[in-house]
Amino acid sequence: MRVLGIETSCDETGVAVYDTDRGLLAHALYTQIALHAEYGGVVPELASRDHVRKLLPLVRQVLAEAGLRQDQLDGVAYTAGPGLVGALMVGAAAGRALAWALDLPAIGVHHMEGHLLAPLLEDPGLAPPFVALLVSGGHTQLVEVAAIGDYRLLGETLDDAAGEAFDKTAKMMGLAYPGGPELARLAEAGQPGRYTFSRPMTDRPGLDFSFSGLKTQVLLAWQASDRTPETRADIARGFEDAVVETLAIKCGRALDQTGARTLVVAGGVGANVRLRARLQALAAKRGGRACFPRPEFCTDNGAMIAFAGALRLQAGQQADAAVTVAPRWDMATLPAV
Ligand code: KG4
Ligand code: ZN
Repeated sequence: MRVLGIETSCDETGVAVYDTDRGLLAHALYTQIALHAEYGGVVPELASRDHVRKLLPLVRQVLAEAGLRQDQLDGVAYTAGPGLVGALMVGAAAGRALAWALDLPAIGVHHMEGHLLAPLLEDPGLAPPFVALLVSGGHTQLVEVAAIGDYRLLGETLDDAAGEAFDKTAKMMGLAYPGGPELARLAEAGQPGRYTFSRPMTDRPGLDFSFSGLKTQVLLAWQASDRTPETRADIARGFEDAVVETLAIKCGRALDQTGARTLVVAGGVGANVRLRARLQALAAKRGGRACFPRPEFCTDNGAMIAFAGALRLQAGQQADAAVTVAPRWDMATLPAV
């Protein structure tokens, strides 16, 4: 089954074709970073308009790269939530219209299920049960995955998401939007241990997170510092170590609590090199393994949506012809596959 996947939930237009027999056939991504940079964050209306401009050319490009005509598709999957409502509407309307015109089944995919399943896209040996750590710009969640579609929330952030903490901290220290990856790059040059920040909520039981206080600690340290490039890198390193260690402590607890041996990590912060190494070591120490998508499939992309949609379409699930999106959507309410 060949499924076209469309992702437009935020500031990235992603398109891909996934074949359930042959794997990923083609994928393309257009990022709106330059568009939003001068505003220091995503401007929803501009995001929607840019998706309108870029989506259909990307669909044509991906079909050409896959060597497929439209009528050789077997299904369409689009992100239906959570995300920015206008941005979601662009992908959902285009996906539904295409499916209607081609008389194909179509399905609205949960963006976080897309992230969660992304590690399975290129690792056929990976299957539930496992614990998933979802760390993106909007979410930080630990999820017990008993089967595909069977998700139990173990813990989540009470305030900022991990990626949001990276971005806001970067902005405070004068880095350009979106600062998360840049802050991580700076941290590589930083001296470990010169700045030490707390590991929030690790001194009490439970699997919830809180990252907004950490951001304030970093701000105070930055303001009191000499603000040289070296100090900025050292503070970045201290911040990154605090986030990585906090995530690792909670992942260890989640593995212990569920008895799972496999940890799956996805979402933009999953591209973080230090986090990947730390969680791999943690899982290996427990005799298990930590699995990540390749970095470009950690951040938003169309491939994960094509893949998640293909699994559900293959199981006979599909949505009716209405264009419906869900800016807020609890993953635990998804039907089993
Ligand atoms: O999954 P994603 O592309 O979009 C959402 O669904 O939110 O995640 C984007 C987030 C941003 O906050 C970005 O700063 C963060 O992922 N991110 C990183 C790295 N690469 C992206 N954070 C830390 N280290 C990185 N290397
Ligand atoms: Zn995302």
